Amino acid sequence: MRVDVLTLFPDAFSGALSNGILRIAQEKKLLDVRLRNFRDFTKDRYKSVDDKPYGGGPGMVLLCEPFFDCQDSAVEEGHREGFEGEPFRVALTPQGRPLDQELLEKLAKERWLMFLCGHYEGFDERILEGLKPLEVSIGDYVLSGGEVPAMVLLDGLARLLPGALGAPEGAVQDSFSGGTRLLEAPQYTRPRMFRGMGVPDVLLSGDHGAIKKWREEQALARTRARRPDLLDEEKTRE
Ligand code: 6GU
Repeated sequence: MRVDVLTLFPDAFSGALSNGILRIAQEKKLLDVRLRNFRDFTKDRYKSVDDKPYGGGPGMVLLCEPFFDCQDSAVEEGHREGFEGEPFRVALTPQGRPLDQELLEKLAKERWLMFLCGHYEGFDERILEGLKPLEVSIGDYVLSGGEVPAMVLLDGLARLLPGALGAPEGAVQDSFSGGTRLLEAPQYTRPRMFRGMGVPDVLLSGDHGAIKKWREEQALARTRARRPDLLDEEKTRE
């Protein structure tokens, strides 16, 4: 999968991309992230990427021209390197569709993605009108820019790419994944007793049927207690 990321802060991605699953996915050539700074496409001496909103009001709005020039250059480069058609574009904005595992699974099937990271008060609306990205939000709170959300997407996507994870069934058992989309049951490892806290007997029993049943009950109880909305969703899905 190739992902072109249009951002004013390409350096912000270095920590996320050089560790863990994201690093491994790139080393295995499953993921190719191309960071592009649209400030490089400005033509004025101040390298302006934003300006005051028409009609007045607080904050600054991202200019169309450097953004479109940067995106055109990314698409041309993709074509030169053998990618066909257009990338599937995602704009990171608090106005977008809330990200969930289902959307990640859909995006993970794409060969070529383009992430548009906004900043300040947002994009000039014609960036959205012209490039028609899917607008995605990572939750109901406000961040200063789309970089952290873009890294959230990259991380969630990398672990879904076939071959990225050691144990392929791992991803299916996780919370929100696979058939049930419940929260996960509690997990324990060595030692059996730690600071007076033990491990549920059933997990030490060796009875795989009982362990499976316990985990299912725990997952359901946890979901009911912490995220009843997920169970309601389950009903409306059917
Ligand atoms: Cl995608 N961007 C910004 N700036 N804030 C957010 C967000 C995105 N998702 C939640 N808050």
